[in-house]
Amino acid sequence: MFENLSSDLESSALSLIEGEKNLVANLANLSSHIYYSMPNLNWCGFYLWSDQDQELVLGPFQGKVACIRIRADRGVCGKAYSTKQTLLVNDVHAFPGHIACDAASNSELVIPLIVNDRCVGVLDLDSPMKDRFTQDDANRLQSLMKKITPLLWVL
Ligand code: SME
Repeated sequence: MFENLSSDLESSALSLIEGEKNLVANLANLSSHIYYSMPNLNWCGFYLWSDQDQELVLGPFQGKVACIRIRADRGVCGKAYSTKQTLLVNDVHAFPGHIACDAASNSELVIPLIVNDRCVGVLDLDSPMKDRFTQDDANRLQSLMKKITPLLWVL
């Protein structure tokens, strides 16, 4: 077994954004930090909710080019957004409506980003391995994003 999400990811992620208010810069560094901290990922990034367009729009990420817009009723990201629930999908091919941005992806973890009870976007992680993500990964990333999202979004 490979080492999963490191326990110091939270403190390192918090220090990464310290003193910087620019949302794009912080999301870009966070996507890189998570991507290179977790083995066996082929994509890690953010989709941000656009009030104007009423859909999720691609934000900073690491990995191959991805679909730009995702409706709230589409895909794993749209479901995580609209239900405000973390979704751990062990086999994306068994998930009805999964959007395949990269044919190499086999499992996925999506964490909603909540500010003042409102979902402002999602963090999306893909892996070429089936069953890549553990419940522990989901819990740690959910707790990290719960702590970090209100610091990133000044509404
Ligand atoms: N698989 C996602 C789409 C985004 S890509 O994985 C980067 C989904 O079903 O919503």
